[in-house]
Amino acid sequence: MLQFEGANILSVDQFDADSIQRVFTIADQMIPYAHRKKRTRVLDGAILGNLFFEPSTRTRVSFGTAFNLLGGEVRETTGMESSAIAKGESLYDTARVLSSYSDIIAMRHPKAGSVAEFAEGSRVPVINGGDGTNEHPTQALLDLYTIQKELHHHQRTIDGMHICMIGDLKYGRTVHSLSKLLCLYKGVQFTLISPQELAMPAEVLSALEDAGHRFTVTDQLAGVMDADIVYQTRIQQERFASLEEAAQYRGRFRLNSEIYTRHYKPNTVIMHPLPRDSREEANELDNDLNQNPNLAIFRQADNGVLIRMALFALTLGVADKVSQYDTDVVWFSDKANY
Ligand code: CP
Repeated sequence: MLQFEGANILSVDQFDADSIQRVFTIADQMIPYAHRKKRTRVLDGAILGNLFFEPSTRTRVSFGTAFNLLGGEVRETTGMESSAIAKGESLYDTARVLSSYSDIIAMRHPKAGSVAEFAEGSRVPVINGGDGTNEHPTQALLDLYTIQKELHHHQRTIDGMHICMIGDLKYGRTVHSLSKLLCLYKGVQFTLISPQELAMPAEVLSALEDAGHRFTVTDQLAGVMDADIVYQTRIQQERFASLEEAAQYRGRFRLNSEIYTRHYKPNTVIMHPLPRDSREEANELDNDLNQNPNLAIFRQADNGVLIRMALFALTLGVADKVSQYDTDVVWFSDKANY
């Protein structure tokens, strides 16, 4: 079991089944706060340093929201150009300095391994919000939490499920981290659909093999009628040498109502880490799926707040004290019914 208090959260490799269950249990306890049924001040006075050196909407804002919902304050740094890293300062020095201004740090950076390098200089816990093509552990935890909840509605479990991952499996850190977490489960079947040049890295395939999972690698959408989950991804254009190179792959695997009905069984859950590329040349997840009850992408994004609240509460050692500091919400809120 991961010793959460004071720990850095850098990789899904740190998690075993009990640690995941602990995160999910605490995440469930965060629902009344995220739904504005109650508020808590358990982190009153604490400061989150939210450092995002790559674009982000969900991860950056949900880390901040999660910290605010626990009563803490957030200091943001966004973009290399607004940090002294642009003047040549090392990640180590940046970490030494910023960790004295914060109680915990969340960080995203374009270079694989950079968040671990930063954590070596930090005197407070560091949470990886995505490091290049390497990992996105909090996304994988929220994806897994979402999969468990969605399958539960269909009386299914993660053990024995069939997941179909589509798109840029080479550069997509979300599918790397999620696949590794799924190695903690039994008998998962993977269908990995990508252009051959963007196939899942060998290291991840080898982990699936070691876990005893079956996988099919293909560049064809056909033949996935029994998938329980379809996990679409974006072509990670920021990882390619040129925009022209990325453009070759954009729009290769589109998912819309017609394709969904043709290739998937009626209750297949549709996931995507977001952002979805909705430009006409990509349109990887069509708006005509927006009213499909199996489209879980926004529930997935909402779950990010719960998982990040849980990780903050656990790493700062207040997971069992949250309700001691709660009060009623006095303003109108209908979030629980969204
Ligand atoms: N899923 C995800 O990482 O989204 P952002 O890039 O908006 O943070």
